[in-house]
Amino acid sequence: MEWRAENGNRLRLMRGDITRVPADAIVNAANSALAGGGGVDGAIHRAAGPVLRRELDQIRAGIGHCPTGSAVVTTAGALPARFVFHAVGPIYCGGAHGEAELLAACYRKCLELAEERELAVIAFPSISTGAYGYPVEEAAGIAIEEVRRHLERPGIHLREAVFVLFDQAAYDAYLACLPR
Ligand code: APR
Repeated sequence: MEWRAENGNRLRLMRGDITRVPADAIVNAANSALAGGGGVDGAIHRAAGPVLRRELDQIRAGIGHCPTGSAVVTTAGALPARFVFHAVGPIYCGGAHGEAELLAACYRKCLELAEERELAVIAFPSISTGAYGYPVEEAAGIAIEEVRRHLERPGIHLREAVFVLFDQAAYDAYLACLPR
């Protein structure tokens, strides 16, 4: 399913495994320590190979950690992408601890990193809605709104943003938020 902005830019939803989706950049749902983990983080590291770990170790040596709501960039190893943006979503603690703004900031940071690199296609997982416990119905609205707003802007480089949803419940939640 997809939505098209008036300028022709596309926001697409698909079910699947993000490690198999060709894109200029693939977004990872990482943690602040950039330490790797399970979920989509584990899948991305396994599919990309050890180069990601090495690059993240170097980044950590430089900046220590990545704040929640931000992201760091590595190459993509064996993935069908040029870059991986390791975004750190908020851990959901009931919703009154700035979670919505931090989640929105994550998506904005990734879009900004894509524009800086003049990329055309970016693929996102559903950040924070697995181990970090963000209710997917709420997270979907935030994710789609940030990306839609960006795609409508004149003069941007991105042409397509794809949300790669791992299960049907996440797909349905994003579909419910897709503009008609
Ligand atoms: N492709 C796309 N989506 C995936 C994949 C995959 N291969 N594997 C899992 N997902 C989905 C999950 O089903 C969930 O909907 O990604 C979404 C995000 O879940 P998590 O990966 O658990 O990410 P998050 O909730 O942001 O938690 C981040 O988990 O593994 C750790 O290192 C990671 O500590 C960090 C935390």
